[in-house]
Amino acid sequence: MPHTIPRRSIWLHPQAPQTVQIIDQRSLPHLVKIVDIKSSDEAARAIQEMWVRGAPLIGAMAGFGYWLAVCEAKKHDQADHYLKRQLDALAKTRPTAVNLQWALDLQIARAVGLDSFGERQVKALETAKEIVEQEVKISNDIGEWGLPLIETLYQKHQRPINILTHCNAGRMATIEWGTATAPIYKAHQAGIPLHIWVDETRPRNQGARITAWELGVAGIAHTIIADNTGGHLMQHGKVDMCIVGTDRTTRKGDVANKIGTYLKALAAWDNQVPFYVALPSSTIDWGLANGLHEIPIEERGSEEIRYIQGWSEETQAIAKVRLTPADSPALNYGFDVTPAKYVSGLLTERGLCAASEKGLLSLFPEQKLKQ
Ligand code: MRU
Repeated sequence: MPHTIPRRSIWLHPQAPQTVQIIDQRSLPHLVKIVDIKSSDEAARAIQEMWVRGAPLIGAMAGFGYWLAVCEAKKHDQADHYLKRQLDALAKTRPTAVNLQWALDLQIARAVGLDSFGERQVKALETAKEIVEQEVKISNDIGEWGLPLIETLYQKHQRPINILTHCNAGRMATIEWGTATAPIYKAHQAGIPLHIWVDETRPRNQGARITAWELGVAGIAHTIIADNTGGHLMQHGKVDMCIVGTDRTTRKGDVANKIGTYLKALAAWDNQVPFYVALPSSTIDWGLANGLHEIPIEERGSEEIRYIQGWSEETQAIAKVRLTPADSPALNYGFDVTPAKYVSGLLTERGLCAASEKGLLSLFPEQKLKQ
């Protein structure tokens, strides 16, 4: 297992022009493969096939994908038509994380009034870089706002604080810090003893593969648990708080996150364990009210359930094996919606608020004017 981790999950190639570099997250934690993304088609493929994943990183990749599409359009006979086609392709790659459309909308808005593709190319790169820097700052701020929640628990218990997280809302899902993990890193830096319960997060195991790796590299104590274990731990007082990320949050505070999040929220509710959701404001879909009925839930291929990937000690390579009977069908929803009533608080770059329209508007009053 590698003991180093690139500082960021996406960056511009330091030498090659019009090239973005990413970590291919499909092979983590076994191999840290850095991949060059040189075209908007490759950017779309990287999002769709989950070389990059996690709502904020998907947004950043989409921002760079748009820039690459503008560079390509400049050399194309039907530049506007080509750009529109590539934009549509990027927008369709993954449906649930709203950051994807948010980043593309920002790029489109910034191009208004720019006639030449030369100007648009410059602006698109500037905007993509801005998305990256903004997400880094936002994650840092989420960490600062979340730290007091952990400090309070530590003052009360005077022992290591047990935090449960689901999926990977860490630095590989964002750019740096992570969202759910940012308060954890800040508390670790502040010297608070921690222990993190890491849900494996079937079917793609983002928790077992990526969150565990990130925490291990940072030297934070953690234990991977099967997805079904959290409720039992909560019943026995072994979880002090849960923190998860989100791919889309409605203005009323309903939260779509990796499948299985809802069941953890129910267990937390039943056991009076605080359940926090950490989110950059780019993840709020102000146009939606009812998460259950309005958030599109991605359905992915059944092979993700039927097969499992891991490191073969025998061949010293990544191997994929079938888990299920060859002919059994499988159903693979990628996300579920946790209704706001089960969320103890939303942790944003502007602070902590109630999971409600009133709570969100108290932190983002400018959205009131847009309604
Ligand atoms: O399907 P994924 O791996 O993109 O899903 C990721 C998650 O559900 C994360 O928890 C979410 O994007 C929040 S990331 C800060």
